[in-house]
Amino acid sequence: MSETVHSNPAASEPTEPKAARRAVPVWLLVLLFLLIYWGFIYFDQRSGWCSPVVYGPYHSAEEVDLYQYKVEGPDPANGRAAFEKYCSLCHNTDGAGKPGQAPPLAGSEWVNAAGVNRLIRIPVLGLTGQIEVNGKPYDFPAGMTPIAASREAIPDKDLSDILTYVRQAWGNKGAPVTLEQVKAIRDEVANRSTQLTVKELKELPETK
Ligand code: HEC
Repeated sequence: MSETVHSNPAASEPTEPKAARRAVPVWLLVLLFLLIYWGFIYFDQRSGWCSPVVYGPYHSAEEVDLYQYKVEGPDPANGRAAFEKYCSLCHNTDGAGKPGQAPPLAGSEWVNAAGVNRLIRIPVLGLTGQIEVNGKPYDFPAGMTPIAASREAIPDKDLSDILTYVRQAWGNKGAPVTLEQVKAIRDEVANRSTQLTVKELKELPETK
């Protein structure tokens, strides 16, 4: 019996590589885990979570927000929009008033007064009685309705914006009307439901 190379494969091919499973080294798993972990942190901090409002060089929506221009205090742009919604129907968009409807706000001494103790009460309580504006007498039988009687309809912020706009538009030159001033006067007259009269208005101090 002759010996062949195939008779004992184990002996003739001892170094043939074998397909065997070898465990992945633990250090590689740890490295992979750390890489993924770092990747998520990187994504979280710098991607802005793919929001379209986040753009370079900013990394997050909070950061973009931090650098936005903010309006501090009364905002005349919002005031204008609210004025056109609530007041211009009678006083006109140019503040010139309308015949038979309302007197002018442009150049009005009631609007431009140094103090706003009287002015704030007008939209909150309404106004009745003959009134003189810019040296001209006006007589509107129904007077002005208390258009800002309710805080639900016109919140304090909107009213302070409206009055600030009115005091600065059409050549008027009054200081802004703050949220605190509006709030204080609304609290003071909260229990009153009758229209303010022009006589009462004149007796009120301009500033408190
Ligand atoms: C329904 C019509 C009407 C609306 C709406 C209206 N007003 Fe008037 N307003 C009048 C009338 C009428 C008078 C005159 C009151 C009087 O006869 O005593 C007046 C008077 C005034 C006055 C004092 C007089 C002057 O011309 O300076 C001011 C200030 C004023 N209104 C502000 C406002 C503001 C601010 C708004 C909106 C929040 C507003 N009004 C909404 C009709 C209106």
